[in-house]
Amino acid sequence: MNLDGARVLITGSSIGIGAATAALLKERGARVFLNGRDADRLAGAMEELGLPGHRADVGKREEAIALVEAARGALGGIDVLINNAGWGRRMPLGEVDAEVMHAIWETNVLGVVHTTQAALEDLERAKGAIVNIASTAALRGYAGGTAYCSSKFALRGLTECWRAELRPRDIRVLLVNPSEVQTCFFGGDPDRELDPRKLHAEDIAHAIGGALEMDDRGFIPELSVFATNPFPAG
Ligand SMILES: NC(=O)c1ccc[n+]([C@@H]2O[C@H](COP(=O)([O-])OP(=O)(O)OC[C@H]3O[C@@H](n4cnc5c(N)ncnc54)[C@H](OP(=O)(O)O)[C@@H]3O)[C@@H](O)[C@H]2O)c1
Repeated sequence: MNLDGARVLITGSSIGIGAATAALLKERGARVFLNGRDADRLAGAMEELGLPGHRADVGKREEAIALVEAARGALGGIDVLINNAGWGRRMPLGEVDAEVMHAIWETNVLGVVHTTQAALEDLERAKGAIVNIASTAALRGYAGGTAYCSSKFALRGLTECWRAELRPRDIRVLLVNPSEVQTCFFGGDPDRELDPRKLHAEDIAHAIGGALEMDDRGFIPELSVFATNPFPAG
């Protein structure tokens, strides 16, 4: 796909991997539309990146539909949907809070379904692409990962189903699995100094941009991104 002029909606793009991807795709000529739940944070990103956006919680179906309508209105259509909005919380089995787990699934799984359903006709018209941002937590579990890992395993599962359904309709469905990336996902100051040996949001943006730029004849169904050597010295 030629990114120059491509119309791209990125959910959860007010900070972190989504914002870094928006910046990189804009640099390559794409017309990007931003999203997030927190209105102030989104407004800050829109100003900093010079891009349009719409506040919406993708876990709420009506809001996801309104987001896609706003993106369609601003861009005139959607060629690429990047389902990036996501969050998690570590909870050992005995402490799993059903309400929190439900809220994680609402964003990480149902949010992706709502947004993609709403954008499907645009993507079909454009013979476009869907990029679902999962995680290495979609590949293997870890202690405390019940809520988050199960949501990302589900995302990986539905991505495989969509690939089977949508390839014959010329829509490419990609899954990206970052390992640990230094964003605000784990909390902390967004302006803190980053460890140069661990992944930065820009590394994931680079992987997404590269995968999308491949000729439409083919596509990379799934890619995982690891830091080469994030281990403490010695
Ligand atoms: N950082 C990592 O180590 C890592 C590793 C593997 C995978 N990932 C995945 O990568 C994606 C991006 O994570 P990140 O590290 O960039 O996290 P981040 O810095 O916390 O950014 C998350 C973004 O998603 C938005 N968001 C969250 N829930 C939303 C919802 N329901 N509706 C709309 N926007 C929502 C946030 O804004 P608001 O809070 O204002 O809505 C923010 O813009 C997530 O899917 C995450 O699971 C991250």
